[in-house]
Amino acid sequence: MSKMEVKTSLLDNMIGVGDMVLLEPLSEETFIGNLRKRFEHNEIYTYIGSVVISMNPYKSLPIYTADKVEEYRNRNFYELSPHIYALADEAYRSLRDQDKDQCILITGESGAGKTEASKLVMSYVAAVCGKGQEVNKVKEQLLQSNPVLEAFGNAKTVRNDNSSRFGKYMDIEFDFKGDPLGGVISNYLLEKSRVVKQPRGERNFHIFYQLLSGASDDTLKKLKLDRDFSKYNYLSLDSATVNGLDDAANFRTVRNAMQIVGFMEDELQSVMELVAAVLKLGNIEFKPESRVNGFDESRVKDKNDLKEMCELLGIEQSVLERAFSYRTVEAKMEKVSTTLNVAQAYYARDALAKNLYSRMFSWLVTRINESIKAQTKSRKKVMGVLDIYGFEIFEDNSFEQFIINYCNEKLQQIFIELTLREEQEEYVREGIEWTNIEYFNNAIICDLIENNQNGILAMLDEECLRPGTVTDETFLDKLNTICAEHQHFESRLSKNSKFLTDHSLPHSCFRIQHYAGKVLYRVEGFVDKNNDLLYRDLSQAMYKANHSLMKLLFPEGNPAKVNLKRPPTAGFQFKASVGTLMKNLQTKNPNYIRCIKPNDKKASQVFTDSLVCHQVRYLGLMENVRVRRAGYAFRQAYEPCLERYKMLCKQTWPHWKGPAREGVEVLLKGLEVPEEEFAYGRSKIFIRNPRTLFFLEEKRRQCLEDLATLIQKIYRGWKCRTHFLLLKKSQVVVSAWYRRYAQQQKYKKIKSSSIVVQSFIRGWKARKILRELKYQKRCKEAVTTISAYWHGTQARRELKRLKEEARRKHAVAVIWAYWLGLKVRREYRKFFRANAGKKIYEFTIQKIMQKYFLGLKNTMPSMSPIDKTWPARPYLFLDGTHQELRRIFHLWRCKKYRSQFTEEKKAIYEEKLEASKIFKDKKALYPSSVGQPFKGDYLEINKNPKYQKLNSVMDEKVLLADVVNKINRANGKGAPRIFLLTKKKFVLADQKTGQVKASVPLPDLNSVSVSTQSDGFFALKLKEGTPSAAKGDFLLSSDRLIEIITKLHRTGAASAERETIGVDISDEFLVQFKQDKVCVKFIQAGPKNGNSVACKRKNNRLLEVSVPSP
Ligand SMILES: Nc1ncnc2c1ncn2[C@@H]1O[C@H](COP(=O)(O)OP(=O)(O)OP(=O)(O)O)[C@@H](O)[C@H]1O
Ligand SMILES: [Mg+2]
Repeated sequence: MSKMEVKTSLLDNMIGVGDMVLLEPLSEETFIGNLRKRFEHNEIYTYIGSVVISMNPYKSLPIYTADKVEEYRNRNFYELSPHIYALADEAYRSLRDQDKDQCILITGESGAGKTEASKLVMSYVAAVCGKGQEVNKVKEQLLQSNPVLEAFGNAKTVRNDNSSRFGKYMDIEFDFKGDPLGGVISNYLLEKSRVVKQPRGERNFHIFYQLLSGASDDTLKKLKLDRDFSKYNYLSLDSATVNGLDDAANFRTVRNAMQIVGFMEDELQSVMELVAAVLKLGNIEFKPESRVNGFDESRVKDKNDLKEMCELLGIEQSVLERAFSYRTVEAKMEKVSTTLNVAQAYYARDALAKNLYSRMFSWLVTRINESIKAQTKSRKKVMGVLDIYGFEIFEDNSFEQFIINYCNEKLQQIFIELTLREEQEEYVREGIEWTNIEYFNNAIICDLIENNQNGILAMLDEECLRPGTVTDETFLDKLNTICAEHQHFESRLSKNSKFLTDHSLPHSCFRIQHYAGKVLYRVEGFVDKNNDLLYRDLSQAMYKANHSLMKLLFPEGNPAKVNLKRPPTAGFQFKASVGTLMKNLQTKNPNYIRCIKPNDKKASQVFTDSLVCHQVRYLGLMENVRVRRAGYAFRQAYEPCLERYKMLCKQTWPHWKGPAREGVEVLLKGLEVPEEEFAYGRSKIFIRNPRTLFFLEEKRRQCLEDLATLIQKIYRGWKCRTHFLLLKKSQVVVSAWYRRYAQQQKYKKIKSSSIVVQSFIRGWKARKILRELKYQKRCKEAVTTISAYWHGTQARRELKRLKEEARRKHAVAVIWAYWLGLKVRREYRKFFRANAGKKIYEFTIQKIMQKYFLGLKNTMPSMSPIDKTWPARPYLFLDGTHQELRRIFHLWRCKKYRSQFTEEKKAIYEEKLEASKIFKDKKALYPSSVGQPFKGDYLEINKNPKYQKLNSVMDEKVLLADVVNKINRANGKGAPRIFLLTKKKFVLADQKTGQVKASVPLPDLNSVSVSTQSDGFFALKLKEGTPSAAKGDFLLSSDRLIEIITKLHRTGAASAERETIGVDISDEFLVQFKQDKVCVKFIQAGPKNGNSVACKRKNNRLLEVSVPSP
């Protein structure tokens, strides 16, 4: 906490005293008076040290708001006025920060506000612990378990409209950060007798009324229920509705809470079915039916309710009906069936109802535990909240009250033990001297009840297990003998004669002096309730039910698990569970809330002294205060003590530098507090008398006033000064800003003017420089021009001079040469005239000729006779020589060429030469034949066996053999024929067969006609009158026309006895076909006729051959 924060204390604005320890003087009157005073001012919480006394206000107070939670959050216990939140906060913080498991023990009688207190503690812890989706869900489930359990376990009693009829201990588990993880609820002994019977002015458990008033018509119909309470025997009617309790609304709350906790819809349905079944069960009535043996046997009177109940739970009706009329007793392998009379049947019915309900309640707790179970196995911190039924003293107290009061005795015991032990331990821890304080220890009463040998519970168990007739009376007799001497046991018939005449003690009762007062117990029903028997036939009938929850509730009904052993008695079970609880509580740090009821009327503002006084007494609160004060009334750690009172001493104000303990010592010495009034512990100062504390407080209050004035003064001064400083600072800032602004403006002005001035000066300077530069440039240009002119003049002058000089030199040289020439000529004139001229000429000519021949030798053309190149002549006078040399060279070259020919080759060339003579420049076909060698025999007739026959006909050497086309005069088309030529004849034969078609002796051949063009047509014209001419001339065509004609011509010329064969070259000639003469005309074909030669008959006398242009 910062030094400036004002510390508060429970001592501030106190009504009465907030802590009873400070009560002065301490007496019962002042104690009650203090409680009353505070109660009247709605201060319902008061401390005794760390114990909280809570008065039930019976009205809602505005002290549980979220703001209050925040106010108490993380504050010290004594810092604020007493509140249950302070205790919850203390417990939660020491759990979270110091890792101490806590338990909160809430005690008080019925209606004192325990359940409310437990809910306040839980809601406070839920509000201050961690948040988050998962954590919030856990919190919500933990909080919502309350309405569920209250609906099934609470009922209206004369003392409390919402009285818890079961004990509840809830462990809330936290993780290391203090976030809730889950919880475990333990329940203790539900007052199940209430299911079948309620005392006057009381009700059955809330859930019955809630179901009937809150469920929808539809649900009720399904459950076969009627909204009218009066229809049900088990519901008491005199207080069916309770003021301020809205059963219908609560039913919705409970349903909703069950869903939040995690009940499935079918589980909810099953629970409601069981509740309905209990109501139905109560309506089953019995009538006696006489048997032959004289005994009465019970029979179900009206079977409708029985039927409906069986339908609800899926039980076979006959089985249940039989179980209400007979009872099977099993003993040592024997089964005996006995009949039940009407009373026994009613007893069985009620036992079934009670068991059904209480087992369902236990199942609910188990089911809730399943839901709220922490999901982690890591170590958990635990805060236990115990809300157990309060001490009860009724007019008619039975086994339940006995059990409840026993439990309260045990709690009181643990309270005494732990409070004293803790107090004692603190003194020892702090090293303070401690003297024992007298108080009433109720261990003796606990012993009376729970002692294993002669305790009341042990004897009740013994009675229940004993063979023979056992009744409540035999049990009381036993108590009378065994407990007679006990100080706290009272009975009329006991050996202790002191009670013989006590008329307030009826015969069938015993009385126990509990720590909280005397309670008279009626023994009736003790044995039965302790036995808690349910006939096996019934449990077996229940087990057989076709209802999942019922099977779970009655496991002993399973025939496979028949157990002949008696189940443990109710008393035994309770004792055991209380024992476990006590052990559990002892391991935790206890926090006490002691609830007190201000009146019996559930009224606000009514404070009944006697009632409160009674509770104060039996709760041992006075002893509590005394124990607390016997040593020292008040204790506080040194640091907070010094912090609180340091203003009371100059040395400690405002700061104490040394250890806190020494500071406190200096402080107390300075205040002259008597030494016996306080003791210095190791970490705390102990103040014996509250007066001393008040003295300190009073001093502090006065001092605080002075301090307040001082603080005010200083604060005001500080405030004014701060304000002034702030103003000053602001003024400085403002003026600084203004100055800055003004200077900026001025600077800007100066800057702009200086820029203007600068620009003028710069302009002027620049212009001056420009002028100067221009002048310099002009000067330079002038100089250049002048020097150029001057240089020019110089150069021209020099040139002139040089030219003059050259001319003069040349003239001198010419003159000199002329003169020399003249001189030489004059000297050598006589020699020249005779020889020199001719000699020089000859020499020159010789030299030129030499050079010409040598040059010609190097530029000679090739040796090819057709090469026409010849170097150009160098001198005109050599023209004749040059041409002559060329001719000689060509002749010589031809001779050289010819000299390498053989005879054969020579013949071929001769033939070629002849061809040239005949055709050169006459027929266009000729140039293409120049390159072709004349082979002659193309068919190789003598070698080819195909022409063997033809060969044999030929008697001479074949000069030419080739295939030609014989032109048909009718259509101009050609037919292939073999053309053979020998020295004497030519033959035409069939190409395929070799058969001779015509054989013409050469002398019969008159002439040959060909065209001038590139075609291969030729006509062989025969001499008229010869035998060969009878058939007519031949018009043939062949690509080797040139060779054929040349060979024909040569052969003809070779035979001496005849003339040569004439060759006509003309584009139109006549051919004699048998009788007719036909004209063959050659024309140039247009480009569209293609490249082939076409012969067409135009008419009888004309064959037209179109030849492609070359
Ligand atoms: N702090 C409180 N503020 C307002 N009303 C309260 C407070 N405490 C208790 N009451 C009232 O007193 C009634 C009884 O309280 P509560 O049920 O807590 O008693 P109890 O001690 O649990 O009794 P029992 O032992 O019968 O269960 C409550 O229903 C409520 O009306
Ligand atoms: Mg209660």
